[in-house]
Amino acid sequence: MNDDIAEIIFSEEQIQKKVRELAGKISNDYRNKQLTIVSVLKGGIPFLSDLLKHIDIPLSIDFIAAASYKNTESSGIVRFIMDLREPAENKNLLIVEDIVDTGRTLDYICKNLKTRKPKSLKICALLDKSSRRIKNIKIDYFGFEIPDKFVVGYGMDYNELYRNLPYIGILKSKVFRQKKGVNCS
Ligand code: IMP
Ligand code: MG
Repeated sequence: MNDDIAEIIFSEEQIQKKVRELAGKISNDYRNKQLTIVSVLKGGIPFLSDLLKHIDIPLSIDFIAAASYKNTESSGIVRFIMDLREPAENKNLLIVEDIVDTGRTLDYICKNLKTRKPKSLKICALLDKSSRRIKNIKIDYFGFEIPDKFVVGYGMDYNELYRNLPYIGILKSKVFRQKKGVNCS
């Protein structure tokens, strides 16, 4: 699998250091508040899992899944494929996402969640590809800004593969050519 990676842009150590920093800020900001983390499946899973280990306040977790992707290009159409299990009303929701690209997914999720009247709604995303933004999204906690390149690893996939890499990298161009035609989520 590692043979498919052209370049590592964030190592496991860099990611873990950043996650600890973010977890520290979140713990301070939500101390004495009831926090519900909303993890966006599937890409947000490794990030969620590592954040949880370092957030030192009581919290609950819930999951949401949305799909908008076809291969490496966003189709622009977002749809829910799984909803929260618990009511969101009056909760301090913190959405945890792998990456904000065009912002369409989070725009859709946030607009939907706001109709449920949470007490607060904030966003934590590990990566920010701000040069591609179409929708105006305020990321309250973010890890790294990245250039306009398609990345994989640490939850992020290409055709459902590479999510289990502990680092974030860029695929070799020959891998894109070989695996065209299957949808991502
Ligand atoms: P957006 O709606 O364009 O902001 O895209 C959001 C979703 O697309 C992210 O949550 C990722 O799951 C996926 N995505 C965006 N950029 C990348 C990338 O470079 N690699 C893998 N997945 C990506
Ligand atoms: Mg995602």
